[in-house]
Amino acid sequence: MAFNPLQERGIPLDRQIRNWSELNTTPYRKQDVHPYSRCRGIVMNGIEVEAVMFSHQMNRNTLDPEVKKALATVRRVEAQQQKAINWLIPGDESTLEVTIGYEQVAVDLTAWAAQHEPDPYLRQVYEFGLLEDFDHLYRYANLYSLLQGKDAQWLVDGLTEIMPGRPTIFEHRDPADEIRRPMTSLAADPQSVLNAMTVTAAEQQTMNFYMTIGNRFTEPLARATYLEIGLIEEQHVTQYESILDPTCTWLENLLFHEYNECWLYYSFMETEPDPKVRALYELHLNMEIEHLRIACEMMRQIEKRDPEAILPKSIDRVMTFQENKAWVRQILADQVDLTAKGSQFINIAELPVDDAYYAYQARVNEGGCPTEQVIAETASAKGDEYRLETEGEHPVPGLRRPDARKGASTEYARCLFNEPGGFPHGASPTLQQPPAGGPS
Ligand SMILES: [Fe+2]
Ligand SMILES: [Fe+2]
Ligand SMILES: [Fe+2]
Ligand SMILES: [Fe+2]
Repeated sequence: MAFNPLQERGIPLDRQIRNWSELNTTPYRKQDVHPYSRCRGIVMNGIEVEAVMFSHQMNRNTLDPEVKKALATVRRVEAQQQKAINWLIPGDESTLEVTIGYEQVAVDLTAWAAQHEPDPYLRQVYEFGLLEDFDHLYRYANLYSLLQGKDAQWLVDGLTEIMPGRPTIFEHRDPADEIRRPMTSLAADPQSVLNAMTVTAAEQQTMNFYMTIGNRFTEPLARATYLEIGLIEEQHVTQYESILDPTCTWLENLLFHEYNECWLYYSFMETEPDPKVRALYELHLNMEIEHLRIACEMMRQIEKRDPEAILPKSIDRVMTFQENKAWVRQILADQVDLTAKGSQFINIAELPVDDAYYAYQARVNEGGCPTEQVIAETASAKGDEYRLETEGEHPVPGLRRPDARKGASTEYARCLFNEPGGFPHGASPTLQQPPAGGPS
């Protein structure tokens, strides 16, 4: 299966521009699309948005007019690719339906990255972030049930479960605790570089999306939920971008961007069942092969470095969307009570009571917490909160439905709400219990 984009011939750049009707791709039918086809489109849109924004940043930091011209030419194509991919989403797919797709991506893409991550610290970073997006999926699915009266089952098709992760109310941390240790690209396994670039781009697009569409609702609770989760996506972008190598030159970074695009289009071309979409991925792969060749050429000429010494010899493994239910359950059982302190992950019970985490929690949650309210309101309007637990009851007893908890709690609830068993040393932070239906 080895594939080396450096040895392939792509489409010449002057033949990459498409006309408006070629770009205006026919959207999928939301009733028929495979959930993971939806996911692949969301990922590639995020990757192309990153390609465009990275190129703009590089342009703003480049003096050489020849480099600026080359960047502008390739960037125009990246911008066209972004349209062709993102226009696959049909207009009748509601904002909440698209959102549930975004969070399904965050779960199953990050799960793949974690399971194929050779570096144990980076694997921990992914597992930590994953449990938070997993919770977002549950909050949005409840909002979907509450506002649109629909069951999110048909969107995820049972491939991803919908139940509490690390409750969003607890995810709000002091900004300094989102910074992770960076990798060194040249010393890292190439898979680590690809994983980090891909997950960063996906999280960044999720942040952008919530920034833009969170105010398109009239219901105050929907607006509040999007802004709260949008702030967590900001934390996630901070986390993931900080694992990237900050010492890369702009050209080296460009090279990795183009290589990453080749890897993902190649991966998705191999796994996409819809023939039209597969053809689009193949077309874009052939464009990216040329982008990569141009980036290699710039590196040879300007930095006098050999790009082949920097890039992997071949692509041996494709990124695949596949269900991760048993694996996610194990991560939930083992890690739901973790928090971040500096660049490390520790159990919430190990945080000293005067930690900045509690001050931040007290400030942002002091007037109530929208993602808790969504569950409470859904439970009271529908008689029960929404969950899709296809593999049995929740693996964390304290996160089962209130009537199934049998008094079990989580470390978070014990520490933050001063429940029995938390903070044996006496002092405690002063957070109030969330409304009924909240985590405990
Ligand atoms: Fe691209
Ligand atoms: Fe999320
Ligand atoms: Fe996220
Ligand atoms: Fe590209």
